[in-house]
Amino acid sequence: MKKRKIAIMGLGTVGGGAYDILTRNRDYILKTQGLDIEVKYILDRDVTPLEKRGIPVSLWCASADALAADPEVELVIETMGGVEPAKTFISKMLSAGKSVVTANKELLAKSWHELEPIAKAHGCGLYFEASCVGGVPVIRALGESFQGDKVQAIYGIINGTTNYILSKMSRDGCDYATALSDAQRLGYAEANPSSDVDGYDAAYKLSILASLAFHTCVPYGSIYREGISGVSARDIENAHELGYEIKLLAIGKRDGNNIEARVHPAFVARDHALSSVSGAFNAVYLQGDYVGNLMFYGAGAGAAPTGSAIVSDVVKALGGSPKYCDFDNNGKLDKNINLVGDFVSGYYIDISVEDKPGVLSRISTVLGENNVSIKAATQAPGDDGTANVVFLTHRAGEKSVMRSLESIGKLASVINVQSVIRVL
Ligand code: NAP
Ligand code: HSE
Repeated sequence: MKKRKIAIMGLGTVGGGAYDILTRNRDYILKTQGLDIEVKYILDRDVTPLEKRGIPVSLWCASADALAADPEVELVIETMGGVEPAKTFISKMLSAGKSVVTANKELLAKSWHELEPIAKAHGCGLYFEASCVGGVPVIRALGESFQGDKVQAIYGIINGTTNYILSKMSRDGCDYATALSDAQRLGYAEANPSSDVDGYDAAYKLSILASLAFHTCVPYGSIYREGISGVSARDIENAHELGYEIKLLAIGKRDGNNIEARVHPAFVARDHALSSVSGAFNAVYLQGDYVGNLMFYGAGAGAAPTGSAIVSDVVKALGGSPKYCDFDNNGKLDKNINLVGDFVSGYYIDISVEDKPGVLSRISTVLGENNVSIKAATQAPGDDGTANVVFLTHRAGEKSVMRSLESIGKLASVINVQSVIRVL
């Protein structure tokens, strides 16, 4: 049996997870898939990560050029992260005809349109199941299922770190900083955790998922993005009282040529399937015109689940022919597509006011004047003659709500608008 030689660039959480699976399950993969896969090289800054894992340092390789030049290496796994030098290294491998398996959603969201043509020109493939939703095979499903369906919407919890933080705050009353440092220790967070908490990571993933689901390029720069740093313990408490959990949602919708793509925290009703997705788990809830509603659920981050997705791509790449995008993947929004900025949603609004007669009615008037209809309102006493008024609105246009809040912020007796969170 011919050995199929591969290399790994970046032996951290994900690269290490993939290496473990490839070595521990090597015989199993041989038996079930007929592929004898051997890791010939590991590229990292130095031998330290190999030594830490008890991997022979003879596998260490210092240079991407050496990997690219070795004709025995058929495929390279990229798990270094970041845009450069990952992009240059991947380009070298593809140009040498080696398929690349990557977990790098940032690079993919930014440069998919540049990398895929290199793969195509050299008859090799670019595989990225591990880039979105950890071990959950949602990329495979979007690429290979639903051929007869028009996917109308995807609602995802697609960042493990923020879901872990929000779950710890919600369930254990943990503070934000402690929950974030736990997520970092557990290997869920990006090298720069701002990517997670400010919603960039979810926007990169939504760009990839929405492009595949809607068969058109949804550039990450066109995605509305808001992170979780503004979500307070009070918001979580209010959400619970009103029957909701707060989640960082990635939402993509297509209706004809109208596309909506946004990432932001949202109130999710306790009876919605997404509300029970907690910790570093992820889920993608998908609506197709014939298949109806589906939910993909599983571990969204971490060494083993993401390593599993990497290995499934390695087996796929070594066992068959590459497949390329079925749409014009040029990195830009198609000129026929209308990006919907004024989307419609329910809203939770928390306003701090001076506790004086008439304030509530002045706020309600402004909302009404802007066509924002109130579904529920509560008032709780604050400190020193202040009060907090909390509104849930019926579905209203984003622009109308933002316009109302600007006017409300200027009303006499309104101290400030503390929080605005959309309701799913
Ligand atoms: P990580 O633990 O930081 O591992 C990255 C490894 O690559 C480290 O050993 C790092 O060395 C090495 N590396 C980085 N730049 C390098 C360079 N220029 N030359 C040589 N080696 C270099 O990161 P990770 O969490 O495994 O993430 C890797 C990729 O997978 C990222 O694209 C990430 O977004 C993606 N991803 C991660 C997860 C997850 O759960 N962690 C899940 C899905 C996808 P140093 O430590 O010395 O920098
Ligand atoms: N930092 C990412 C997350 C890793 O927390 O979801 C998985 O892509």
